Amino acid sequence: QKLKLSLEQIEKSGYEHFMLKEIFEQPKSVHDTMRGRLLVDEGVIKMAGIWDHIERFKNANRIIIIACGTSWHAGLIGEYLIEEYARIPVEVEYASEFRYRNPIITDKDVVIAISQSGETADTMAALKLAKERGAFIYGICNVVDSSIARITDAGSYTHAGPEIGVASTKAFTAQLTILSLIALKLGKHNGNLGNAEFMSLIAELDAIPKKIEDVLSSTHELVQNIAKDFVNATNFLYLGRGYNYPAALEGALKLKEISYIHAEGYPAAEMKHGPIALIDENMPIVIIAPKKGHYDKIVSNVQEIKARKGKVISVVNIGDTQVSEMSDYVIEIPETSECFSPIIASVPLQLLAYYIAVYRGANVDQPRNLAKSVTVE
Ligand code: AGP
Repeated sequence: QKLKLSLEQIEKSGYEHFMLKEIFEQPKSVHDTMRGRLLVDEGVIKMAGIWDHIERFKNANRIIIIACGTSWHAGLIGEYLIEEYARIPVEVEYASEFRYRNPIITDKDVVIAISQSGETADTMAALKLAKERGAFIYGICNVVDSSIARITDAGSYTHAGPEIGVASTKAFTAQLTILSLIALKLGKHNGNLGNAEFMSLIAELDAIPKKIEDVLSSTHELVQNIAKDFVNATNFLYLGRGYNYPAALEGALKLKEISYIHAEGYPAAEMKHGPIALIDENMPIVIIAPKKGHYDKIVSNVQEIKARKGKVISVVNIGDTQVSEMSDYVIEIPETSECFSPIIASVPLQLLAYYIAVYRGANVDQPRNLAKSVTVE
């Protein structure tokens, strides 16, 4: 019997949707992002775009990260990374706000633009403004030779490969990888990050693709089953602290975009300043709780949720007991340094959003009202 395959089916390489294919490509895409840049044996990070302009970075008063949507979430994690390891002040701005609020920009500022498509209209306009006012512009784009890549002074491509699904997945983890490389490189160069810590962090970063692979195989089926129980949910809360607060925002955005279930991401500690009022037995709460990073604080957040009968889906490290015992559903991920944990924790959250959307019969690759790149205001 002759098999008739459309071009699209071939491009999906056997996956039902591009989004699922792209989720599963992440061990490779993260590896590709690091390839030729992270040289663990030599103990160096090679990034020509940074190195050629190292004085601009070294003398920067501050770094302003500009982006939209998922790329903005990556920017928030970039802020934590760069401030922690390079000790350079960072501000993260929505491009659409930045461009219209007459921001203070000087020639001592370095602007980092993050954009998968490199065509987002607001990001482009914000960069033009920053450029006119003398800032140095660095781009983190996925699409080679895109408009944003062309107007930047320097940059690093994420090399995640084409992302077709409207919901960004592999581009996000690639952006986090580039931001990690930049933060560690700057920190090592300006002396804020000692050699021993630098060496241990780069070894850990090098191990991330394998850990993503492990997470995909160990959680895929489990997450599908969890998703079945939430097909009729109408709301979700996503909570995380520190580096995983932006990961919570991103998890919520994925669910909103493709399943059309209302979801909010919050820093876990903010729960008691409002969202706690929403918690009852009908509220699913995804909580990202790896061992490294405010774990004890998260334990008390989970206690507060359970006291109000919320349904807890926790993302914890393998072997976890405290949060797991209180959770209704447990997704285990391998341990890593706190700063890289969003790269791993995001993967099961992408799968959760994907399967909930699939079970609701939604068009995951092309969700209603959304475009892959937002080229108009
Ligand atoms: C991500 O899932 C979204 N589709 C959207 O938020 C996107 O990240 C945003 O429009 C920014 O796009 P860009 O990275 O191509 O600039």
